[in-house]
Amino acid sequence: MDKIVVTGNGPLKGQIPIAGAKNACLTLMPATLLSEEPLTLTNAPRLSDIKTMTTLLASLGAEVSSLQDGQVLAMSSHDINNHTADYDIVRKMRASILVLGPLLARYGHAVVSLPGGCAIGARPVDLHLKALEAMGAELELKDGYIHAKVSGGLKGAQFEFPFVSVGATENALMAASLAKGTTVLKNAAREPEIVDLVECLIKMGAQIEGQGSSTITVQGVDRLNGATHPVVTDRIELGTYMLAPVITGGEVELLGGRRNLVDTFCDKLEEAGVSIEETKTGLKVKHANGRVKAVDVTTEPFPGFPTDLQAQMMALLCTSEGTSELHETIFENRFMHAPELIRMGADIEVHGGTATVTGVQRLKGAPVMATDLRASVSMILAGLAAEGETVLSRVYHLDRGYERVEEKLSACGAMIERVPE
Ligand code: UD1
Repeated sequence: MDKIVVTGNGPLKGQIPIAGAKNACLTLMPATLLSEEPLTLTNAPRLSDIKTMTTLLASLGAEVSSLQDGQVLAMSSHDINNHTADYDIVRKMRASILVLGPLLARYGHAVVSLPGGCAIGARPVDLHLKALEAMGAELELKDGYIHAKVSGGLKGAQFEFPFVSVGATENALMAASLAKGTTVLKNAAREPEIVDLVECLIKMGAQIEGQGSSTITVQGVDRLNGATHPVVTDRIELGTYMLAPVITGGEVELLGGRRNLVDTFCDKLEEAGVSIEETKTGLKVKHANGRVKAVDVTTEPFPGFPTDLQAQMMALLCTSEGTSELHETIFENRFMHAPELIRMGADIEVHGGTATVTGVQRLKGAPVMATDLRASVSMILAGLAAEGETVLSRVYHLDRGYERVEEKLSACGAMIERVPE
């Protein structure tokens, strides 16, 4: 298995292009199952999670062609001949659950394995199931699989999520698009990936209002047509690379970046003393004044501080001036990067959902292990700022969500390379 070797060598300078969002693409792809006409996605990211979703859709009978070096996905679900999402594929990626709503809405039945995914807590799918049940689905859990059916088609319903779930909102939206009557989703997720999904569904002929707010209304239609849709910019990749010039004391422009995708994150960086400028082509981030100031961070659903940037922010705060508290409120086991950062000389104490980080002068390179997707990139960021060599193993976590990391960072002067083991 490959390793990534990073050697801290001072300020990064240059430009980094930001790809289409993994999490948007992973919900836009199953939307193909809603229509017999082709759905084409442009600006798709080149990631192993996208390959896993491709394999899953192909196993159901969909055609997925990867064009233009993977940046265009041309999909057709004209001949879906299998309605079972198998454990062997689903266990690799939790987002596989997103085929459930579309299959059920178009065919009236589906069998989907209970998902696996990152080891960041229990991550049940009960809200996905409750929303579908509200629309009339009959569900049974048998041998690790969800068996879902509905006689006479899904029916519009009022459903209030007890707490915000991105995936459950996406599944419910796709299902409601083809349900009979009106569905009102309350306490719905407001993430940009939800807005992107709704914009694509509207192009396909769906009637939806309220995306981006916590109440979304869907007027079901009989059928959806094909469409072509560009995947929204990846705000998590954007936020991650915004930290590269901060942690190294450099200046980098993130091409395609927009502040409204990462507003709360920008506010925190500015509070820490970082300068952020919106340019015609993206966001320019600069930090030349030594260590950043300590800041407290609480993760929240959008528009709050994203849980998917918590590990990277922790890497930055490891060398801040003062003591910061990070509160993780979305996932119960999302500090697995802390022991690895401690191996690099960080001063971190974790108590339940709170990590207390006291900044040190400088981190030191060490062999570290990726424990999940965002944790892995936090160690690369730490490695860019550390003295000496950081060797990251279990790189497959990183490849799930970051395309061409070595290429993007070395173009700005980083010493980073992938070495096959
Ligand atoms: C999505 C993102 C993930 C991000 C997360 C929160 C994708 C592919 N992944 O994950 O990168 O970290 O949003 O921003 O888009 N929960 C339940 N029952 C459910 C569903 C969720 O208890 O049925 C809990 C989860 O365990 C978690 C919280 O709700 O504690 C939020 O999860 P959710 O928003 O659903 O995350 P995902 O859609 O899985």
